[in-house]
Amino acid sequence: MAEQAKRVLSGIQPTMDSFHIGNWFGALNQWVDLQETHECYYCVVDLHALTVNHDPKQIKQRTLASFAQLLALGIDPNRSVVFVQSHLAEHSQLAWVLSCIAGYGEAARMTQFKDKSQKEGADRATVGLFTYPVLQAADILLYQPTAVPVGDDQKQHIELTRDLAQRFNSTYGQTFTIPQTMTVVGNSRVLDLQDPTAKMSKSSPSGAVFLMDSASVISKKIKSAVTDSGREVSYDFEEKPGISNLIGLLAAATKRPIEETAEAVSGQGYGSFKQLVADELVACIEPIRDRTSQLLEDPSELTALIARGATKAGVTARQTLNMTYQRLGLLGPGN
Ligand code: TYM
Repeated sequence: MAEQAKRVLSGIQPTMDSFHIGNWFGALNQWVDLQETHECYYCVVDLHALTVNHDPKQIKQRTLASFAQLLALGIDPNRSVVFVQSHLAEHSQLAWVLSCIAGYGEAARMTQFKDKSQKEGADRATVGLFTYPVLQAADILLYQPTAVPVGDDQKQHIELTRDLAQRFNSTYGQTFTIPQTMTVVGNSRVLDLQDPTAKMSKSSPSGAVFLMDSASVISKKIKSAVTDSGREVSYDFEEKPGISNLIGLLAAATKRPIEETAEAVSGQGYGSFKQLVADELVACIEPIRDRTSQLLEDPSELTALIARGATKAGVTARQTLNMTYQRLGLLGPGN
């Protein structure tokens, strides 16, 4: 049997002016590397950003800034299909179909929904927040990827996607490729610098280093990162999550394996170790911040690239949606 082309799809929300290093080291790093071996589809998921309070004045700029950051990080729009979710109606169309085979109970079990709806309060949590993972499943299945590169926190959503694809295929006939979850070793869950029991996230700005942070802000955040009891550096996620997290960041910033990095810094005092982590992070983030700012100076060039991405993505998305409608037995416009 001919080997299936290896294809990945992934997405990121434009909810802030800047991605953080959890996004970068947990997911985007592998997006960049996968361009060597896979056909890649990468998507800025602006419709997902509507599930929590959003500001209409900001989302356009944040979508552009997200796109610029992806390019600055090394996503090449000539090699990968990079696009904006809302430019393709097929995402919402397939989401509706999938929501008709998704169980209410299985959607209610998604931990991200439970966490976010608790924070928003039951009355304020929207139906969109509830069906969020179904839209994510549509984002994925439209492009028939063999794998989805994400951080740890997305694993449950990819499991749901697989379940929905399998259910659809067994009910209506082979339609969707069943994708694998693909996570990085070591940094698939980057921790909050102020609270190493939680993942780094945009909702805790002092615990996250953003790609658009200045050198002095980055240094300050690393130096005030919560460390663990003891005085010497060693890699032990159970006993020393704060320090181990910083070792993971150092490894990613210097592009060296975690084990090798851990060995090199083992026994150092916390002060000099944090200084090293701060310096290396500043060194790798600064060029990305500068490149992003440069790209944002010419939005028309970015908009042209985004339009090209939508055209390319549309070919695959329409094929899958047409096949899905046929399998469902819907009357097509021509017959
Ligand atoms: P989002 O926008 O929250 O995050 C984008 C990517 O960054 C990863 N990530 C992390 N990885 C390690 N440590 C962290 N602290 C950390 N924080 C974030 C996320 O796992 C993700 O891979 N639901 C998705 C967006 C989405 C999507 C998709 C993803 C929509 N459709 C289709 C894949 C395929 C989300 O909110 O990611």
